[in-house]
Amino acid sequence: MREVLYAPNLGYYSAGATKFGAAGDFVTAPELSELFGVAVADSFAAWQPSSVLELGAGSGRLAQQFIEGATWRPAYSILELSADLRERQQQRLSSHSVTWLDAMPGRLVGLTLANEVLDATPCELVRYHAGQYERGYVTVVNDTSDHRIGSWRFVMTWHPIADAQLRAVAQERIPAIDGYVSEINLEAEALIATLCDRLDDGAICMVDYGFPRREYYVPDRRGGTLACHYRQQVHFDPLLLPGLQDVTAHVDFTAMAEAAVDAGAEVICYCAQAQFLLAAGLLDRMQRTPWPDERSRVTATSAIQKLLAPTEMGEFFKVLIVGKGEALTALAPLAAIDQSYRL
Ligand SMILES: C[S@@+](CC[C@H](N)C(=O)[O-])C[C@H]1O[C@@H](n2cnc3c(N)ncnc32)[C@H](O)[C@@H]1O
Repeated sequence: MREVLYAPNLGYYSAGATKFGAAGDFVTAPELSELFGVAVADSFAAWQPSSVLELGAGSGRLAQQFIEGATWRPAYSILELSADLRERQQQRLSSHSVTWLDAMPGRLVGLTLANEVLDATPCELVRYHAGQYERGYVTVVNDTSDHRIGSWRFVMTWHPIADAQLRAVAQERIPAIDGYVSEINLEAEALIATLCDRLDDGAICMVDYGFPRREYYVPDRRGGTLACHYRQQVHFDPLLLPGLQDVTAHVDFTAMAEAAVDAGAEVICYCAQAQFLLAAGLLDRMQRTPWPDERSRVTATSAIQKLLAPTEMGEFFKVLIVGKGEALTALAPLAAIDQSYRL
């Protein structure tokens, strides 16, 4: 997953394909509606963090929406793994004061935002088979039967988990049902742990698709959640089109919350995206926006519907906000929509 997404010049996020939006492979919330980033800014307006760090800013739209919509002027910085996307962000945000970082800062203060970053973090595939937990590996074989793509192709192989940490986590989380396959994302957990460890005073807001653990590893979901996106189509073979398609897995939000708490942070709020955006006043913003014509208003309304509808992104996407220090007091009103008991 790391290679096909991030290998320099070749990986899906490193190479120059369109990716986001209707002309690309998938549509994220800030690509769908310019009011998404405005609503995110509105939800932190009472706190007014002096600095905002965005991880994995994609096309730069969320940054643009946040900066233009915010009622205060935070110092905005972006940490982006992909050199290609960083360049595109710099073009989009050329008239805004944004700093691009080469590495995560040693200490963090203020708000850190990550929209659809955790699902793009390389995960492990784990399978329960014949009484033991196995880890999935990718290898190449010389397959002389398929002449369309040459004789070399990728295949999955499974081996008993040698890594003690991964084995322990697999035993704890993955149901012992023969043939059950799922994902464990230790790298995403480590990312949240590092962010929280370095956080002196502030909050980390993660928006992504996923579930609490007890809904993630249910017996019925025997094939896991790993999925691939290519030209607005979804399929489940990560070995196809290496570097040309997105590969992603749902987020175990319980694991993210545990990683944060273990690193000394507190869970401020966990809820569905719809609740978060409604509490931020998205509908009010929508009504107050002077759309140039009726067509634009209808298009914008339909996008908002997608962000909020339970059958679209409203319930499927979750928001997890964790924090430390005085930010906890400033963000206390988010308790009104908190459902962290579900984690
Ligand atoms: C699915 S895209 C989402 C882009 C954007 N946030 C949006 O909502 O449209 C994932 C983004 O996260 C970046 N990314 C993934 N892991 C990262 C990390 N550890 N640090 C910084 N950026 C990362 C990718 O390069 C890409 O820009």
